Amino acid sequence: MKPGLFITFEGLDGAGKSTQLRLAVRYIRKCGHRVLVTREPGGTPTGERIREILLASKTGRLAPLAELALMYAARAQLLEEVVRPALARGEVVVSDRYNTASFAYQGYGRELGTATVRAFDRVICGTTQPDLTIILDLDPEDALGRARGRGTQRSSRLDRIEAQGTAFHRRVRAGYLAVARRAPGRIKVVRANQSIEELQGQIRALIDPLLAGRDQHSKIETRKS
Ligand code: TYD
Repeated sequence: MKPGLFITFEGLDGAGKSTQLRLAVRYIRKCGHRVLVTREPGGTPTGERIREILLASKTGRLAPLAELALMYAARAQLLEEVVRPALARGEVVVSDRYNTASFAYQGYGRELGTATVRAFDRVICGTTQPDLTIILDLDPEDALGRARGRGTQRSSRLDRIEAQGTAFHRRVRAGYLAVARRAPGRIKVVRANQSIEELQGQIRALIDPLLAGRDQHSKIETRKS
């Protein structure tokens, strides 16, 4: 069986993550792979209820550690119900955010520090780490402007986390870049202020070698059988 592949998309709200993820998923499917798409926080019935608490503005202030623990509670549920079974079936799992968001938003944004996030991560994610994490990088001012514009279009207000100020989002961005510097092989940063097509081209160039690796693997498997 082909080994599963785990790809995650990250970035500030408003960086264009969802559009790029959708195009990437379409591309991976066209290349002949089975893809499972999910998102965080959420992706399971329980996770979506936890997401409500995390994002609803009526929740008010959550203690930073409570926020982190809820992110990882939703993640534990997603791993058990969705991600690990799909990887075991040999599928490509593509997630709109995963654990790098906790390092950036809770570790840096909420200033809990990476050691605290890592402690949760060891227990809950363990060895289920992404093969590739793509961070769409954008200046916080531009990203927030886009997120705000989107909010008015959908006639919805910013969610509880988007509503944090620019200083918070600057720390989140610095966090993403710091985490990427520590794992340059696995975590890739692409500048988000390019055309949709240019950006998608760069993303495909990052995904292609992993897909080629799977094709290679399945050829070896076929030869063996
Ligand atoms: P997202 O699904 O991107 O929101 P939207 O549907 O509006 O695009 O992300 C939800 C928010 O949760 C986002 O502000 C980032 C935040 N978040 C964390 O703070 N920590 C985490 O671990 C994750 C996964 C998300």
